[in-house]
Amino acid sequence: MKRKKISLIGGGQIGGNLALLAAQKELGDVLIYDIPNAEGMIKGKALDISQLCPLGGYHSNIIGSSNPEDLIDSDVVIITAGVPRKPGMNREDLLGINIKIITDVAHNVKKYAPNAFVIVLSNPLDAIVYSFYKVSGFDKQKVVGMAGVLDSTRFKTFLAMETGYSVKDVNCMVLGGHGDTMVPILRLATVGGIPVEQLISKDKLDKIVERTRFGGGELVKLFGNGSAYYAPAASAIEMAESYLKDSKRVLPCASLCEGEFNINGYFIGVPSVIGKKGVEKILEFDLLNDEKKALNDTLESVKKTVQETGL
Ligand code: APR
Repeated sequence: MKRKKISLIGGGQIGGNLALLAAQKELGDVLIYDIPNAEGMIKGKALDISQLCPLGGYHSNIIGSSNPEDLIDSDVVIITAGVPRKPGMNREDLLGINIKIITDVAHNVKKYAPNAFVIVLSNPLDAIVYSFYKVSGFDKQKVVGMAGVLDSTRFKTFLAMETGYSVKDVNCMVLGGHGDTMVPILRLATVGGIPVEQLISKDKLDKIVERTRFGGGELVKLFGNGSAYYAPAASAIEMAESYLKDSKRVLPCASLCEGEFNINGYFIGVPSVIGKKGVEKILEFDLLNDEKKALNDTLESVKKTVQETGL
């Protein structure tokens, strides 16, 4: 059987952690691709992670390259190329620069890895994944944005911290755009199957929802120079693994909606089934009126950023 190949476009903070996790999980061989100026850094990361493999007994070949031809035969491409936020910026402030980068990346992926499943992380996520889709002309099932898995794991973490119970037993999802208008679905959040609204006071839950919405910003402020990277990398790997192993995980991902939840023509966070065909299905369910309104508000903000791409 042919070994799988995971190509990481952007070998910065998130890219380095993606490489580490992909190797540790033995998802396949790993290419870290970046611009020529960053070649020493990515070759160094590839060699460093290669030298960690014998310690854990991980069989993975990892290389760093700034030659786009090396993207050939990729099964999965994970894109983090772009600049991250600095304190005081919101994700939308990155659009001007990251749109140019994603256009360049989309041409390379289309040319050298036309059959890959593509997971986009660069921000502003919903507009950048839309831009990749438009520029590359890829099938909608093969393009997805990583945001909801990360926003949901932040939501889970805060719920576990508040209750003191295990994160393993917290279940919840965050839908909508990857911005301050995201929609944590409180009604469906549970700990050990028990609705959180029966375990935590409304006042505290409101604070948790707010902290989730601004979860990325909290980290940008703490880091002072850059944004989160451990949890974002692990979130993308969860999606890649579901594709490579045809696990059919149900994960909140930025998928192209064509009528689902009354959304048409936009990538936005919705429950998505990830299997060997990519985004195999979007699972619709009935929302309450206030949830519908919140999803509509987040859609308006996604639309505004998408319009600014001019695509
Ligand atoms: N092709 C390939 N790589 C590129 C390109 C390009 N055209 N342009 C920039 N890069 C690379 C940079 O050289 C850098 O190594 O992308 C990498 C980005 O890494 P970091 O600056 O460390 O950013 P990171 O924290 O990994 O975040 C990347 O993901 O979550 C988002 O908001 C975040 O948009 C940001 C992206």
